[in-house]
Parts: sequence; C-alpha cells; structure tokens
Amino acid sequence: KRLVVLVSGSGTNLQALLDTIETVGVEAYGAEIVAVGADREGIEGLARAERAGIPTFVRKVKDYGTREEWDAALAEATAAHEPDLVVSAGFMKIVGREFLARFGGRFVNTHPALLPSFPGAHGVRDALAYGARVTGCTVHFVDDGVDTGPIIAQGVVEIRDEDDESALHERIKEVERRLLVEVVGRLARNGYRIEGRKVVIQ
Ligand code: GRF
Repeated sequence: KRLVVLVSGSGTNLQALLDTIETVGVEAYGAEIVAVGADREGIEGLARAERAGIPTFVRKVKDYGTREEWDAALAEATAAHEPDLVVSAGFMKIVGREFLARFGGRFVNTHPALLPSFPGAHGVRDALAYGARVTGCTVHFVDDGVDTGPIIAQGVVEIRDEDDESALHERIKEVERRLLVEVVGRLARNGYRIEGRKVVIQ
C-alpha cells in the first residue's frame, strides 16, 4: 500500500514509520511512504523525508487566495502520488471539502489526547490544565469535524504531578508513535471497514 504522510513539525511520528518500514521491509509492513507533504517549509519533518530519499511537497495557505484553493491544491499534490492511505502525523491544518471528498475514509490522524476529550490544537495543555489523571493518544479517521472521526485505537498515558506540557507531550508521543505504526500497518495489511462510528479491521 502507498502512504502519503502530512506533517507540520518535528516529524517524529513520520520517523517512527520510516524506521519501522526500513527495519521490517515494505512487504512485511504492508506499506511504503511514497511522499511527505507539509503546510510550511523548513521543518524537521521535511528534512527527515529528504534524508530518507522520499519526495516532498509544501502547500502554504498564504500562497492561495482562498482556503478552498489551498485545500484543492493540497488534495491535488497528495493525489499526484496515488496514495492508498493518507496519514496526518502532526499536520496542523484542518482540511476542507475537496480533500475529504478525495481521501475521506482513507485519511487517518493521530491526536495527543483521548478523544472526545480535549480535541483541537492544544490537547496536551488542555488535559494538564483540566487536572486529568490520565490522558493519551487517539488514532482516528478524519471526517468533516475537528478530531471527531471514527476512532481506530487509543493509548493511555498517566499524568504526573510534576508534568509540564512538554514533558507530558513527550511521554504521550512515546505511546503515540508505537500506536500509529501498529495501526497504519494493520490497516494496510488487513484492510478495514468503517461502520458508522465503528472501525472494523479485518
Ligand atoms: C503529535 O503528538 C501529534 O499528535 C500532534 O503533534 C505531535 C506531532 O509530533 N498533533 P511529530 O511532528 O510527529 O514529532
């Protein structure tokens, strides 16, 4: 299966996928990363792709007259690589109608909180501020909401009294990277069905 991975930052989730595929091989894993896309230049996520010899593309919102034009351009750039599955790994933009029309049902996102708790761009900070005792990460299909699509898998991470946002986020990411690698591999190898809010992986 062909994967396109979308990033906006450090790309450690992308790196976990790259390392796993490098270690076990494309056949055994069931997927290869054919391109990495971003909404901005100069991020470590793009450097990681380049070091792995993987094509990259960047589509910046401010380069387009409207948000819809950006969304269509991102969809076009993604479609050019003919992905079977698109993975948002720290991609920090909300995609629109065009992107979802083309990739809905095969577009997966990872979020650093236990959805439906703490959706949005500050899930780690919000869980900490709320005084939650556990949080975690969620891998889900993207629908037309923000972090509201059908949940595929979740991992739990305890919150410690001494945690600040970055310490907690690092601990979440250790679980998140393993969860994402495991889920993407299973989706690619086994195939899946989405039935309402349930995801059934064969
Ligand atoms: C991940 O925790 C992701 O869930 C969140 O931002 C982080 C991205 O980390 N949206 P990285 O870029 O994969 O290192």
